[in-house]
Amino acid sequence: MNSTVNPASAHTFGGNAAGRERKQAVDEILAAHLQRTSPEPQTARRHQAFDDQGAFLYLEDFLPREFTEKLVEAVHAVTPAINRNYLPGHKQGGSVSRHAIDELAPFIAELYRSPVLIRWLEKISGDTLQESPADDPHAYALYFYTKAGDHIGWHYDTSYYDGRRYTLLLGVMDDSSCRLEYELHTRTPEIADQPGSVQIPPGGLVFFDGDKLRHRITPARANEFRVSLTFEYVTNPNMRPWQRFVSNMKDSIAYFGFGQVFRRKGGKNGAA
Ligand SMILES: [Fe+2]
Repeated sequence: MNSTVNPASAHTFGGNAAGRERKQAVDEILAAHLQRTSPEPQTARRHQAFDDQGAFLYLEDFLPREFTEKLVEAVHAVTPAINRNYLPGHKQGGSVSRHAIDELAPFIAELYRSPVLIRWLEKISGDTLQESPADDPHAYALYFYTKAGDHIGWHYDTSYYDGRRYTLLLGVMDDSSCRLEYELHTRTPEIADQPGSVQIPPGGLVFFDGDKLRHRITPARANEFRVSLTFEYVTNPNMRPWQRFVSNMKDSIAYFGFGQVFRRKGGKNGAA
């Protein structure tokens, strides 16, 4: 009732002619770029690499340069909406949820929904992917590592959905020593755990099944700056009520704050 957020804003920018043209442009640029950088045999090899690594792929150069530049502009646009969190022993840093991104940086939402991007990720994962539901703040989110000690401890991107949850992590800005450290095959007893570590440059990509990759981001040092973008896709967007409650509490405390997680829901329920 007293919500200041427009519940339909996630969709309005694509509902007019200018929005449709922008989305088409995103798709055309990405399709041409992938045609050059990931033609069919290369994509098949990458799918094989994804499988061999237990549902994990890293590419140091993925996005068209103009997209990376647009993402940097987006970072500046959302900076007033950063929500900082500190959970001792688990995480410290800033984040901006999809709800703020919809208001301030719609290019990110256009890229998230790009059919060309989703089709390519389906080829890599071998799964049929769907967007996360409109009330999931992780669907697309920016993560800021801007103060000494900003980090995320070891974790899985656990799926609270009935199906699998995939994470696409895109490097946006990086003037830091932060690394994504990970362990492959931890959920496959017959294959030895395989540790790894990457520093994802702007435009680089990491794509994985959230329940299979144990990972963390190492702590930033003083005067360092790192921003990454994550997209979340699911194979079945249904979520049972208890899982939804646990997921919402976790997001409120660890990531976006109660305002970002519950205000949107209140607005939507009130409008229904
Ligand atoms: Fe994660």
